[in-house]
Amino acid sequence: MTATVCRTRLPRHIFRTVQLRRCYSTPAHPPVTLLGKEYPRDATTNITSAIIDKVGRNLYMNPSHPLGILQSLISSHFRDFNSMTGVPPIVTPAQNFDDLGFPADHPGRSVTDSYYINRDLMLRTHTSAHEVEVFARGERKWLLSADVYRRDEIDASHYPVFHQMEGARVFSADANGKAEVQEDNERLSQHLARSNIIIEDVPHITPTNPRQDMHDPVLAELVAHNLKLSLNSLMLTLFGDRASVNAGEPLRVRWIEAYFPFTTPSYEVEVFFRGKWLEILGCGVVQQQTLDRAGVPDSISWAFGLGLERIAMILFSIPDIRLFWSQDPRFSSQFSAGQISTFKPYSKYPACYKDVSFWLPDTGLHDNDFCDLVRDTAGDLVQDVVLIDSFTHPKTNRSSKCYRVNYCSMDKSLSNEEANAVHAQVITNLKDKFGVEIR
Ligand code: DAH
Repeated sequence: MTATVCRTRLPRHIFRTVQLRRCYSTPAHPPVTLLGKEYPRDATTNITSAIIDKVGRNLYMNPSHPLGILQSLISSHFRDFNSMTGVPPIVTPAQNFDDLGFPADHPGRSVTDSYYINRDLMLRTHTSAHEVEVFARGERKWLLSADVYRRDEIDASHYPVFHQMEGARVFSADANGKAEVQEDNERLSQHLARSNIIIEDVPHITPTNPRQDMHDPVLAELVAHNLKLSLNSLMLTLFGDRASVNAGEPLRVRWIEAYFPFTTPSYEVEVFFRGKWLEILGCGVVQQQTLDRAGVPDSISWAFGLGLERIAMILFSIPDIRLFWSQDPRFSSQFSAGQISTFKPYSKYPACYKDVSFWLPDTGLHDNDFCDLVRDTAGDLVQDVVLIDSFTHPKTNRSSKCYRVNYCSMDKSLSNEEANAVHAQVITNLKDKFGVEIR
């Protein structure tokens, strides 16, 4: 007996309850309204109203929001790339996963990891979801910035909505393409050779990070090299002399072999920023099946994807990812288009960071000795102390350290002048007690 026959035989009121349980778009479960359109619910629906409220905010399109400032900086770096924005976040699981070669059992597909509107539609989890459609339009040098959504832990650097930028460049898989890559590699290599940058590289192609069988081995090497040169040059634009604690120190960029279902070879890029290695982006040579799906034959492409919040938090010293969503003028008024500035916390009792960098005495200086000295001098005005850099000069063998002291009163707002006075006393005591030489 089929379900239809069974249903028609049920008394009317029972039929209604069956319907109520089956169909989620009832008054108690209204359809999901997103960007002015209604979508039916089903058992897969897990999008919440807190998330729905965020869709369409497009923070990265505001030119004087930190995310917008960073987005523009990256777009102007890739000046001849077509920079796309405003693409709605509603995609099919096929766009987000299948088209990019994600296996059927990939954990990202699960309802615990991603937001589903219903079984056929979801909120994109990454900007790579648009690769096929953009390639299909014939774009050869493009960027796409967008909001992306992932169910994740809650902490200062994770938020269920964040922003990514995807970039890709397509070359013809022939002698013309080869000449184009070679010329661009030459130009970028010269630029990097003139710049204050140290790159820790990995071989472009290895048995654990192979090229694709159908690719010409020489062209695959050249394209992977072009990807690395292009992104090293982006790292210079973004971090240049902002990364080091001491002026004039080179920017350090490190390449690591990685794995993504939609690229091979694949890499991650890290930057040494104020004493720590920070993961910046993922990238690789696009799997040929993605270009085939897009109907782009006889071509080879690289692509990258980066998280805007992660980079903006570092560049603007924004301590908590929730601040990006703040509509408090004390946040928004601090930023202006085209400028990377340091965020000044405006909490009731704001923190005040002061750095001290010095050469160690021959007898050395333990971190705890430094902390005790700070505590003796500043009392409870010190909230925390972080070692942000240590360095040994290769020739003289002298070592130096740089600490960041966070002065923050527990019971009043500490002015910058008061913090400066305490910090000056810390430096005096440091010299007197341990005989260190300030850098
Ligand atoms: N989509 C990846 C993510 O969200 C990032 C990424 C990696 C993008 C490699 C790419 C790529 O285009 O080639 O983690």
